Amino acid sequence: MSKRVIRDAGKYISPALVFHSDIVVRKAKGIYVEGEDGRVFMDFTSGLATANLGHSPTEVIKAARAQMDRLVHSGCIFYYESEVELAKRLKKITPRGIDMFFFSNSGAEAVEGAIKLARFYTGRQGILAFMGGFHGRTLGALTLTASAVKYRKKYHPLLPSVYHSPYPYCYRCPMGQRVETCSIDCIEYLERVFKYQISPDEVACAVIEPVLGEGGYIAPPMKFMKRLKDICRREGILIVADEVQTGFGRTGRWFASDHFDLDPDIITLGKGIASGFPLSALGARRSIMSKWTPGAHGTTFGGNPVSCAAACATIDKTERDKVLLNAQETGAHALKRLRALKEMRRSIGDVRGLGLMIGVEFIKKDGSPDKEETARVIKKCLKAGLVLIECGVDKNVIRIMPPLTVTVREMKKALDIFEEAVV
Ligand SMILES: Cc1ncc(COP(=O)(O)O)c(C=O)c1O
Repeated sequence: MSKRVIRDAGKYISPALVFHSDIVVRKAKGIYVEGEDGRVFMDFTSGLATANLGHSPTEVIKAARAQMDRLVHSGCIFYYESEVELAKRLKKITPRGIDMFFFSNSGAEAVEGAIKLARFYTGRQGILAFMGGFHGRTLGALTLTASAVKYRKKYHPLLPSVYHSPYPYCYRCPMGQRVETCSIDCIEYLERVFKYQISPDEVACAVIEPVLGEGGYIAPPMKFMKRLKDICRREGILIVADEVQTGFGRTGRWFASDHFDLDPDIITLGKGIASGFPLSALGARRSIMSKWTPGAHGTTFGGNPVSCAAACATIDKTERDKVLLNAQETGAHALKRLRALKEMRRSIGDVRGLGLMIGVEFIKKDGSPDKEETARVIKKCLKAGLVLIECGVDKNVIRIMPPLTVTVREMKKALDIFEEAVV
């Protein structure tokens, strides 16, 4: 059965789509995934940072089923309660000032919406993004994406007037600085972009992941975020926080922007928002969103009633079960143990993260990125029942991103496997 599915996928599913394992899933519940061949795995990828409450959380499935019995689709012909209810709940948990929402289906769509809204509202064309950022694969979002050249190859020309500035990847500083002496040269570079390439009064927005995801699981220094915020406020540039991956408790707070007091004007949400049901959201200040005129943006499937009901139940369960606290505690436990492991294993160069968004960077003897060792560790863990994936432009960072409901015991078991695999 498994062999047939994989063979047929090779025949009928586009080769552009990369599957990260050879597991054909029969079912998945919580942190566990069961293959068709009966093998059981701990899913420490959370279905690509989406199953934040674990796979198929009972309360969410129940809410979705109840909604399915009533209404599956509206297509913007009819109003329905679950969409409005979700917007009201999101207003309560998103960073202050975000109070209106537009729902779509994927993270990339939300980013497209953010670009359009920022241009529409400001009347400016320019967009700032950051090296290492991943924002999706549709052409607009792809133009902002700069986490690896493979995503962009053969698609040029992309959107004009998009400028990239370095993201503060302090372990391998793009400006050649050392943490001890750094004066946030990444920001100096940004100021130079304004001096040499585009006048700041022509820039609509700066789109940033408050913690870099695909680009390497990198949290920026607080002072970088503060300076960025100050510059954006000074120049009337909207701050767009792309929280598609960092949102819904991944970093131990509802949103990673909360760690940095970023105060975004626009926010993009996806992945964990509805525990796996397809949904994304674009949130903005009322003063900005309300300027969008009818028809300036639209959707057929966005804000699907079932996905919205699932999202409401996701928020409820996250609050009721104190999931954010669990992410903080299990994340702190993992960080401590992984940092201790780093001291004992030469192949680990850096361990970093917030909450349950933890990156372990593998290096060669000379300190250069070690892609092969990273792949070997992932393969060995998979064999022992632990699913992990990598990230970073050199594919040398392993993401530790289990469901936020993972227990300390499960974390210990996973880290035992990981420790055993790292030489
Ligand atoms: C930060 C960020 N933005 C946008 C996206 C695109 O989301 P989607 O794949 O749902 O289009 C991703 C996906 O990984 C992401 O991590």
